[in-house]
Amino acid sequence: MATMESLIGLVNRIQTACTLLGDHGGGAGSALPTLWEQLPSVAVVGGQSSGKSSVLESIVGRDFLPRGSGIVTRRPLVLQLHKSEQGMEDYAEFLHLEKKRFTDFSAVRKEIQVETDRVTGRSNRISNVPIHLSIYSPNVVDLTLIDLPGLTNVAVEGQPETIVQDIDNMVRCYVEKPNCIILAITPANQDVATSDAVKIAREVDPTGERTFGVLTKLDLMDRGTNALDVLEGRSYRFKYPWVGIVNRSQADINTNMDMIAARRRERDFFSASPDYGHLASKMGSEYLAKLLSKHLESVIRARIPGISSMINQSINELESELDRFGRPVSLDAGAQLYTILELCRAFDQIFKEHLDGGRAGGDR
Ligand code: GDP
Ligand code: NA
Ligand code: MG
Repeated sequence: MATMESLIGLVNRIQTACTLLGDHGGGAGSALPTLWEQLPSVAVVGGQSSGKSSVLESIVGRDFLPRGSGIVTRRPLVLQLHKSEQGMEDYAEFLHLEKKRFTDFSAVRKEIQVETDRVTGRSNRISNVPIHLSIYSPNVVDLTLIDLPGLTNVAVEGQPETIVQDIDNMVRCYVEKPNCIILAITPANQDVATSDAVKIAREVDPTGERTFGVLTKLDLMDRGTNALDVLEGRSYRFKYPWVGIVNRSQADINTNMDMIAARRRERDFFSASPDYGHLASKMGSEYLAKLLSKHLESVIRARIPGISSMINQSINELESELDRFGRPVSLDAGAQLYTILELCRAFDQIFKEHLDGGRAGGDR
């Protein structure tokens, strides 16, 4: 019987296929853009150097993102995590390099830098054009995450004056969509009241039902202070409790502290903390990853009827579209339409199995 994981995996693949189709300018039917709108994703939002890329890496459990001070993330990165079978080697693939399989994750980081510069030049400029990256690993949960440039209040050397507004617009473009789950990244060593992430999340999601507050840099708070007001839900509440995180510091990155050691240290930080010990089971990046996957699952489950009818509509439109192409198709756009059609059929099939098999996900 199909599992929820395969549903999320299929949603991921349909998202990729729709994106490819968009790139190839295929004249697909009207249901496809709406289908895309129905599919959930998670966007990482926050000020510059708040720890967005670090949180993403922790969730994935691999080092692969350019990180550091200043504006490092200059194009949206759409990151799809695919859980593979136990024992399989981790690998990554870019949409713009379809045939190349990366097993060396430092090469992934380099490719992100090269591909960013290819569009923006070696500058501080930003671009709306996303980079698509898929990671396959037995140690991830099925999730689509989007890393975004950091919100900022001032332009720096080499940036046009419009940059502040440009980044704001780009971030809004993602987080405004009702299907977008927002990770509002806020550093604990700054006043939460000034958090750009909290501000934007509250604007686009006033009830807080699709925002997860993430408090980074708990290790950098002044001695004698703590973040219990936020972590225990007394201030800056969203619907779900905030998750506290300790990522690697710049010094850790410089000395190549690996992810396993970083996670262990994070766990120890919480369990040994006099302030946070009682919250330890609901803190840290591993907990955040599981929480997000579970949340995504429930969002998809709630949307199954909507997604399913959209998919049926897409199947009909795609079939007539393909008839006009004449099968077999060799054109890129035609091939993509065909792929989407196959995926939609698979989704429809799984959906039916879910209906037949009673409560879905009970077999996980
Ligand atoms: P981004 O600009 O929001 O993507 O932030 P990055 O993930 O690139 O992190 C910016 C800097 O802050 C890097 O030098 C990280 O090592 C550091 N950093 C991020 N999170 C933490 C944390 O929880 N603790 C400490 N000590 N440093 C962190
Ligand atoms: Na940064
Ligand atoms: Mg970043």
